[in-house]
Amino acid sequence: MRGSFTYCNPTKLYFGKNALQKLAGELYKYGPNVQLIYGGGSIKKNGIYDQVMEVLTDCGKIVVEDGGVMPNPTVDKLREGVQIARDNDVDLLLAVGGGSCCDYAKAVSVSVNCDDDPWEKYYVRFEEPDCEIVPVGCVLTMVGTGSEMNGGSVITNHETKQKIGHVFGEAVMPKFTVLNPMFTLSIPHYQMVAGIYDIFNHICEQYFSGADDNTTDYLCEGLMRSVIHSSRIANVDPEDYEARSNLMWTATWALNTLLGKGKTTDWMVHMLGQAAGAHTDATHGMTLAAVSLPYYRYLIRTAGAACTAKFARFAREVWDIVPEGRSDEELAAAGLDAMEAWMKELGLVMNLTDLGATEDMVDGIADSTIILKGGYKVLTREEVVGILKQSL
Ligand code: NZQ
Ligand code: ZN
Repeated sequence: MRGSFTYCNPTKLYFGKNALQKLAGELYKYGPNVQLIYGGGSIKKNGIYDQVMEVLTDCGKIVVEDGGVMPNPTVDKLREGVQIARDNDVDLLLAVGGGSCCDYAKAVSVSVNCDDDPWEKYYVRFEEPDCEIVPVGCVLTMVGTGSEMNGGSVITNHETKQKIGHVFGEAVMPKFTVLNPMFTLSIPHYQMVAGIYDIFNHICEQYFSGADDNTTDYLCEGLMRSVIHSSRIANVDPEDYEARSNLMWTATWALNTLLGKGKTTDWMVHMLGQAAGAHTDATHGMTLAAVSLPYYRYLIRTAGAACTAKFARFAREVWDIVPEGRSDEELAAAGLDAMEAWMKELGLVMNLTDLGATEDMVDGIADSTIILKGGYKVLTREEVVGILKQSL
């Protein structure tokens, strides 16, 4: 294991068909005023809103509603949520929804008692909170981001065409999360498969770095195999509880701070995808699907032997490709071909054009791309432009 690290994840998870019954036991720990955060209305259609309201009412909570959190929550919505929290002296932010609601709740939590502009402080200057943080709890309804057990909070600024994530520390992570796989059954197929690819790519981003013999890589391979297996079942039968519950649990472990330990990690697929998302407002998982293969294929051509060896290991250990005397280059390519076939089988969007990007947007998307240094290669701007063009 590389380096020294401290590991602590304070989020308490309640998993299973009856997990919502545990919510009351958490609510009593906080004051009376609860800001109920939700999205565009799916929770009202599938009955989750009523179930959560019943628990809140039984616990005597004063509920202030904060609905309409959009996928890829915006800085304007964040300012609105902060005002609601301040006006109502809120004691708990309860997010009922997907990653967008959880991320948004965390952004509100660090902004309510902050005198600075939250966008500038947290998303431009990447400063840490130095104010009192309002606690966050989550009831997850959409699987993929891992936001339910991490400090990540991604906010979009349409004015500046930026979509930026701040990974906050322990104090901002949800205090608790309710994970009932039944709540995810009403997710439309498009969102389900986007979430599945989001899970898979979170694991890839942490796996494709370093050349050491690291326990984390073995965990990654197991989780990737589980995602592939369960996704194939859920793709054909979305009602399959076992597959959907496995996906929910895997999503949480894919990005709850465990896999990054001892790794430099890459995250360039997310940087490219988020930049594309800032210009198109496309679904997060689909933006990742569109840029992944051009990026990975570029890496195995140009990033050197350690990179190719890791992609060859990916082919053997995740896709069961038998070496049969093939070189690492050949194996790496075969692994990515297998991954491409799986992505197409799920029905993922495989290019940025289908997400609304055009060739004349490439320079702007490249300008919005943050270039990170943890992976097998530090990209130049020209390389970013080249990969984006390949992704069209
Ligand atoms: O808004 P409603 O009406 O609820 O509909 C949502 C939304 O349209 C719908 N949905 C959610 N649960 C449903 C459902 N529809 C029917 N039945 C249900 N049970 O699904 C749509 C997408 O929801 P959203 O929350 O936007 O999806 P997701 O969970 O993928 O979150 C995406 C956001 O998370 C960020 C992304 O960038 C994006 O902004 N991420 C956060 C991360 C983190 N915190 O660590 C990491 C990720 O890489 C990602 O960047
Ligand atoms: Zn993601």
